[in-house]
Amino acid sequence: MNKRILLAVCGGIAAYKSAELVRLLRKQNCEVRVVMTSSALKFVSALTFQALSGNPVATQLLNAEEENAMGHINLARWADLIIIAPATANIIAKFSHGLADDLLSTLYLAATCPVYIAPAMNQAMWNKTVTQENIQRLTTHGIKFIGPEQGSQACGETGFGRMTEAKDICLALLARSQQQNLHNINILISAGPTREPLDPVRYISNRSSGKMGYALAEAAEKYGANVTLISGPVILPIPSNIQCVNVETAAQMHHAVISRAANNDIYIGAAAVADYSPASLSTSKIKKQDDDSVIKLQKTKDILADVASLTKRPGFVVGFAAETNDLERYAKDKLVRKNVDMIAANWVGKQQGGFDSDENALQVYWPSGNKSLKMTNKKQLAEQLISLIVEKMNEKSTT
Ligand SMILES: Cc1cc2nc3c(=O)[nH]c(=O)nc-3n(C[C@H](O)[C@H](O)[C@H](O)COP(=O)(O)O)c2cc1C
Repeated sequence: MNKRILLAVCGGIAAYKSAELVRLLRKQNCEVRVVMTSSALKFVSALTFQALSGNPVATQLLNAEEENAMGHINLARWADLIIIAPATANIIAKFSHGLADDLLSTLYLAATCPVYIAPAMNQAMWNKTVTQENIQRLTTHGIKFIGPEQGSQACGETGFGRMTEAKDICLALLARSQQQNLHNINILISAGPTREPLDPVRYISNRSSGKMGYALAEAAEKYGANVTLISGPVILPIPSNIQCVNVETAAQMHHAVISRAANNDIYIGAAAVADYSPASLSTSKIKKQDDDSVIKLQKTKDILADVASLTKRPGFVVGFAAETNDLERYAKDKLVRKNVDMIAANWVGKQQGGFDSDENALQVYWPSGNKSLKMTNKKQLAEQLISLIVEKMNEKSTT
């Protein structure tokens, strides 16, 4: 991995496990420096970390000698990445609120490199609303969480809060450091279907499962991006480290996307947004009639075209096209007509993957070329598409 890694150890039982993390990181040719909070020093001695890292351990903010050797600013500048393991509920709260009353919280504020947090705490502390709110806040600030895991805890309880094992933290850091092409890039992704209500109990929708959009969100996060997912109604779990905004109708999705688009570098419109919605919404359940009934539909707003035509638009805009026929013609037409940078087109219909399936294939078009991404599971396909987006976005910014 060959990185300069700053490991911060906080005051929890899991502190002893981080000694193994130092060893594993050094095996990956990383230079490791360790910061310990004063609580951490009550659990494990600094000497252990000093011996394993081969470097002095920093413990105090206001220590004239340490400040001379390497102050909080120097430590923050030195690191290629920072990992807090174990991270206590306390340090998560401090980071979330910008406190700077000890070495670790102060150097966190001074850091500009990627920061990873491996929490460890009692399951009730983890589930506490305020802890979850702090985690959400930090996620929106671009901090990446590794774990925690579920299982039995040192306190005798069972649930979420166990620190991820050192070898898995090391693997996660390794994987992410190889895929940081999107570090500091903000990506907005819309996913899933929309529901257009007819009355309080009925709606018009489509078969989109949201799997492709969610897989893209996960892949982009893996590449280091700050991801905001605008999701229609789906039954998928929200991927970790991703800010998710739930919407229901095309109008709500339009508002959620447009109001955020200017703050994003990339927009990927992977949602199956209704093209039409009922012209009127009945406030009571529509009763069965003797005769046939006609529903008047009105056009919804075109989210992709509206994002692409914003004065301050994301630098790279990607649309999806789901077609049952004439895929290439429709996709190329959409690319030009909507003035977007890329269209990922896929066949939908009975035997062709697409909606609601775990697999898909994509035919991707951009102004000067195209590429086929073969039928595979949506997670792999999402990684391939994200890499292609990165490649074409870099080409666009250098031409
Ligand atoms: C035996 C013991 C174990 C603890 N384990 C944890 C823990 O796993 N996670 C946690 O968030 N706090 C734990 N705490 C509480 C923290 O040590 C306490 O909140 C402390 O202020 C954290 O300081 P720090 O965040 O500066 O390291 C524990 C406390 C004790 C006495």
